[in-house]
Amino acid sequence: MAVEMKEVKKDRAESLKALEENFTETEKIILSRRSTRWYKKEQVPEFMVKRILEAGRFAPSAGNCQPWKFVVVREPSIIDDLTNTVVMMCKLFRAILDYQTPGNFWKFPIAKLYTHLMPKKLHPVPFSAIPLIADRKLGLYHGAQTVILLFKDVRGVTNPDLDCGIAGQNMVLAAHSMGLGTCWVSFASLAFDYLGFKWNKVFGIKYPYKFITSLAIGWPMGKPDGFVDRPAHSVDWYENGMKTVVDPGKTDSGISLGERFTIPNYADPRQTHWGELNFDYDKCNGCGSCEHICPASAIELKDKKPVLITGAQCMACGDCMAICPKEAIRVKSGYAFSQHFKTIDHSDLKPPRLK
Ligand SMILES: Cc1cc2nc3c(=O)[nH]c(=O)nc-3n(C[C@H](O)[C@H](O)[C@H](O)COP(=O)(O)O)c2cc1C
Ligand code: SF4
Ligand code: SF4
Repeated sequence: MAVEMKEVKKDRAESLKALEENFTETEKIILSRRSTRWYKKEQVPEFMVKRILEAGRFAPSAGNCQPWKFVVVREPSIIDDLTNTVVMMCKLFRAILDYQTPGNFWKFPIAKLYTHLMPKKLHPVPFSAIPLIADRKLGLYHGAQTVILLFKDVRGVTNPDLDCGIAGQNMVLAAHSMGLGTCWVSFASLAFDYLGFKWNKVFGIKYPYKFITSLAIGWPMGKPDGFVDRPAHSVDWYENGMKTVVDPGKTDSGISLGERFTIPNYADPRQTHWGELNFDYDKCNGCGSCEHICPASAIELKDKKPVLITGAQCMACGDCMAICPKEAIRVKSGYAFSQHFKTIDHSDLKPPRLK
């Protein structure tokens, strides 16, 4: 018996040592997943989509209430039509809110009012995406051949939105584990929020269901997935009667009352500081994948060398870094906003760590 116990302990020690040195396969799937915004025209086999739906079905939910409804759309005409509606809505939003174009400053008070009424929807990141979608520089489903719409059952226990998020991430990770690319697409809510009478009818959606978000799924172009640096969030750790802080932020990021009520001005560099990149031109082969993949249209190739466009609104997603075949890009710093949209001060960008 004593010998057996010793062996169990030895096995445990060995497996912990191996774990300390390597990520598990599940961790690799989680850490290498990226939002894919460049797909092949090839459809995803039906059995794969059904397996992805199974991953969603087996997600945990409060009270096991499973407050979701999934709708699979593989009809190109419907995907195009939904995209056209979102483009139209973005054009409308731009027409109302674009105070930055010379001569449009009179729209500033309207933009201010809307921003205060919808601070999350008009946060600088979606705000910067609205004109890109209006001009079709940023697609809605990015050419993905399969789309899954997620609707919540509003009667769900406590927080059905959260349950839908968990189910969605189960589906995203299952798809990624099969070699597929995915992208969460919440911009579709512009169609359901503002033209719900049309779009809920198209899909036969009635009470108690409400659109939450959607997923683009398809075969990725190139190899968009991979480990990239991410801001490290400070974590408070209580143990042995002490509190320590892992990855403490550098500055105080509390939001004062005054800051909460400052006028948001997206064009003011003191209020919006966007992500920054480093390029290694000795390694770069000028393939242009980074320019193509960037959701913010922040990169352009000049003489076959990528540059960050002046005033570009890089959200530091790292997708350019992940797709680069030559490891020629690094995200230098994430975005940081002050005043009305003040961001929490995360610590430096770090690659996935084993410890
Ligand atoms: C709830 C949610 C909604 C999103 N909506 C969109 C969207 O409408 N369009 C889009 O291109 N990306 C969308 N994204 C993708 C994010 O931009 C992306 O996750 C983020 O930049 C981090 O990059 P990564 O997913 O490659 O790690 C969404 C992500 C989440 C989680
Ligand atoms: S990190 Fe910035 S430049 Fe790179 S893909 Fe993302 S938004 Fe574009
Ligand atoms: S993806 Fe990499 S190799 Fe290709 S142009 Fe961009 S930086 Fe250069």
